[in-house]
Amino acid sequence: MDTGTNQRIKPITAETKEHLFIGGCDTVDLANKYGTPLYVIDEVTLRSICREYIEGFKEYGNIKMMYASKALCTSAVSKIIASEGFGFDTVSIGEIYTVYKAGIDMNSVLFNGNNKTQREIELALKYGVGRFSVDNFYEAELLNKIALEKNKTVDILLRLTPGIECHTHDYIQTGQIDSKFGFDLSQIDEIVYLIKNSYKNLKLRGIHAHIGSQIFELKSYHDEVEILIKEMERIKTVHNIDLDEINIGGGLGVKYTENDNPPSVSDLAKTVTESMKKYSGEIHTIYLEPGRSIISTSGVTLYTIGSSKQVPNGRKYVAVDGGMADNPRPSMYQAEYTADIANKINEPKNEKVTIAGRYCESGDILINDIVLPKTEAGDVLCVYNTGAYNYSMASNYNRVEKPAMVLVNNSISDIIVSRESLDDLISHDSIPDRLE
Ligand code: LLP
Repeated sequence: MDTGTNQRIKPITAETKEHLFIGGCDTVDLANKYGTPLYVIDEVTLRSICREYIEGFKEYGNIKMMYASKALCTSAVSKIIASEGFGFDTVSIGEIYTVYKAGIDMNSVLFNGNNKTQREIELALKYGVGRFSVDNFYEAELLNKIALEKNKTVDILLRLTPGIECHTHDYIQTGQIDSKFGFDLSQIDEIVYLIKNSYKNLKLRGIHAHIGSQIFELKSYHDEVEILIKEMERIKTVHNIDLDEINIGGGLGVKYTENDNPPSVSDLAKTVTESMKKYSGEIHTIYLEPGRSIISTSGVTLYTIGSSKQVPNGRKYVAVDGGMADNPRPSMYQAEYTADIANKINEPKNEKVTIAGRYCESGDILINDIVLPKTEAGDVLCVYNTGAYNYSMASNYNRVEKPAMVLVNNSISDIIVSRESLDDLISHDSIPDRLE
């Protein structure tokens, strides 16, 4: 079988010619034309993983794919993913507004999050968001109150904490018992009772959990499905409510380095559908919310190399024109990445260096101890697998403009997010008159 898209480090269209090419475009030309740092999204890779999800779960039939927008939310990316048959898992009114303005069917949008504000809930209802995943008692009461005022009935799922620990970084693990997200299993009866008897403007459709991110162990999904199905059956017995929808969240891992061995989407599909069949007599609608595995592999970041420093008897630091503000993952999670010198893609790799960012923090290191061809100022460094949680977590630290993003396909490149300008940076500032 071919390698699954999430099992590759590089985009599917990556080619070694005189330089590194992606989507038929010379990445060195992209760097020259659009400047660096530059996020590049390969459309073929993005569409291919979307199709693997749809194809992988086809046999089960009753499945709804919801892209977790938090991984990367832009108008063009939303358009592409919607055109592959996905809905959207959103976590803020900003994400909701982006998909709304991109013309997405709002019925296919789910609103998630542990502290949705009143304003967000009101606007989400105004934009016609199809489902809410209710996270806590406060939200249930607030949502019911707002829905009542607007004379609406809102379809909801209940977010649960299923008590599954998966081996991933602590900060990106969400389904364990001591978690800020969702109802503890011991609180389910109380919330279901309230919905049934008091919150008449909420229509309970199903349950929802998300056990973590960058998951490599399929057994976690098997256990999750078992717990969720048993909980649905228990709710039926105790409260006489038939639930049909089960949302198992996202989390499938990707391959950042040669040491990562994530399962493929088709392996995930087998585990989930087999455990659904094993534990559930009836056919339920399954929702999946993949974020990282959808967008990560399609994205790379191009940087230009500038200064370097050889520590006497120590490391050689090579600095690029970006770093922790466009990719906070290495400094936040000790995340590891793979990279090439795009203009020296055919040269032997014989120098071990550490790629440093340009931000004023010693911890702003993008890649420790990577072996590359001998680097010089002006070289273009391509860091792979930066599609997810890079732009979406980017900041303006050190008052640096956020990079542009281009979409490449068939030797064509188009800007899908323009580079911030210096005036963008000060556009929200104001100086009170008394300081003039
Ligand atoms: N559904 C829910 C409820 C989630 O909380 C998340 C991610 C997803 C779906 C999508 O998970 P994915 O398929 O992307 O693993 N910033 C971190 C990742 C945080 C994930 C938060 N929740 C990182 O850069 O690794």
